[in-house]
Amino acid sequence: MNLLYLLGLSALSTAFSPVNNTNHIFNAIHSSMRQWGSSLNHNGMSFFLASVPEGTTLYHGSSHPNTLIETGYVAFDPEHALVFARPPHHPKHPLHDDRVQQKIVTSKHGDPIEDQAGWLHTYQTTKELRLVYVDGMSAGKSHIGTLDSQDRILFNDTIPSGGVSQETERAKAVCRISADEWDNRIDGVIRMAAGFEIILCAPEENLVAERVTKSRIHKPKHHGDHKPQQGKPGELLRVVTSRYNGIGGDRVKVNYDHFVSVYDSDLNVFPADSSHSTQPRLTHLSKASIQKIRQRLTDLVMDHDVHGKVNWQAIADMTVQQYGRRLQDLVSSPRFRTMKSLKAEIAQMWETFVDLDYSSADVEIQRCTNRFIPHAASKTSLAHNVTYTINEQICSTLATALYDDHDHTVAIGRLQELMDYLSWTVWKECRDCRDDEFCAIPIWPQGSLEDYEDPRCQRYNSAYAEKNDYWGPIFH
Ligand SMILES: *[C@@H]1O[C@H](CO)[C@@H](O)[C@H](O)[C@H]1NC(C)=O
Ligand SMILES: *[C@@H]1O[C@H](CO)[C@@H](O)[C@H](O)[C@H]1NC(C)=O
Ligand SMILES: *[C@@H]1O[C@H](CO)[C@@H](O)[C@H](O)[C@H]1NC(C)=O
Repeated sequence: MNLLYLLGLSALSTAFSPVNNTNHIFNAIHSSMRQWGSSLNHNGMSFFLASVPEGTTLYHGSSHPNTLIETGYVAFDPEHALVFARPPHHPKHPLHDDRVQQKIVTSKHGDPIEDQAGWLHTYQTTKELRLVYVDGMSAGKSHIGTLDSQDRILFNDTIPSGGVSQETERAKAVCRISADEWDNRIDGVIRMAAGFEIILCAPEENLVAERVTKSRIHKPKHHGDHKPQQGKPGELLRVVTSRYNGIGGDRVKVNYDHFVSVYDSDLNVFPADSSHSTQPRLTHLSKASIQKIRQRLTDLVMDHDVHGKVNWQAIADMTVQQYGRRLQDLVSSPRFRTMKSLKAEIAQMWETFVDLDYSSADVEIQRCTNRFIPHAASKTSLAHNVTYTINEQICSTLATALYDDHDHTVAIGRLQELMDYLSWTVWKECRDCRDDEFCAIPIWPQGSLEDYEDPRCQRYNSAYAEKNDYWGPIFH
């Protein structure tokens, strides 16, 4: 039995999958521009071309009312930008520090008010923005790998060591690279931490200011207990987690026809000694191997338009929606504790692929595999390759459990092995959070290892109150 189990495993990782890391590339497509999957798979390994339409509203929070020039950070939601609308020389990172010394001033009515106001800028894009999307928690300033892909590949190891302290350098580097190496084909970079942001070049040309208003974050009053609210404001958490399944409104369109992923290479990005061993790292790789990937990024920008033809994420969604809950049900429900009941259930899933006049497992697997693949799509793209291969792995595993397996433990082990390989982020979703709760996972700089391993519903106004040990110290 153990031998069969091992054979099943090696079949998954070699016979069906000539592109390395097929599962991770499929998941990168599925998680792209989504707060949920990009928070869980936080060390991004891929670069995509993306666009933001003309007339899209974007926001910037600042200590001053002057509109942006040269380079700037803009957010998709005002609650996100408002976090940065605060007086200058703020002592610490606003998302993290609840002991900020607030200057007490007296208003004209004589009441002491906390003068912590800044400026909220509201802009619209004057043209379609052409962007490079750096996936994962790429705006998270941590030591655990969230900055690897941009600092090593995009910036070619030229940014001095630093996290928060090097953010201005990173923004300048984006625009310098676009001007010097990319023939100004790119207007900026999309990254994500608690919310998606754009590092935008030439904001004075790419944006028009709609309004600049004096604003501040309202700190809720605390009932009885004198403990100030920890962490992110509830309004920010509400909007950030409302983007779990996508930024919405077609505000960002990703080109999936052509993209660059370190996963699609011969590099081993899972070094054995990595502290977060389930997450990929790039720190151990040689300069020469990094240079090769960087050249592929430059080629991507120079050779391709930001627009793609096929929305491979929408196609990946069909696969995940079809099999996500179903596979979990098959391996965990007491209804399928016998081989007979398990086979009956899989046979039911398989009915539409069977021709009663001519039975052939191979033909049925082909029908199942092709089910979601658009026939007009180019068959040479990486997205086609991994989407096809993942569907084929699922379909052939189901066929084997249906036609070949006789032992319940072997069949369940095979399905469990498939699920371990797929590692879909939907399997971490909580069920049934209340209206004032959300499913809490680590979102830089907050969250615990427990939030990562076993996410639970937490209240917006008191989330992340326990230890926040997931990301380690903020990389300053
Ligand atoms: C990246 O860095 C390497 C070594 O420091 C250098 O040889 C190379 O020219 C750089 N590439 C670019 C495109 O700046
Ligand atoms: C996959 O990775 C291995 C070792 O890391 C390498 O030998 C092989 O060439 C890679 N395959 C592809 C298709 O890149
Ligand atoms: C995926 O790409 C690999 C490597 O180029 C190739 O061997 C394999 O046949 C492709 N699979 C599909 C389904 O296109």
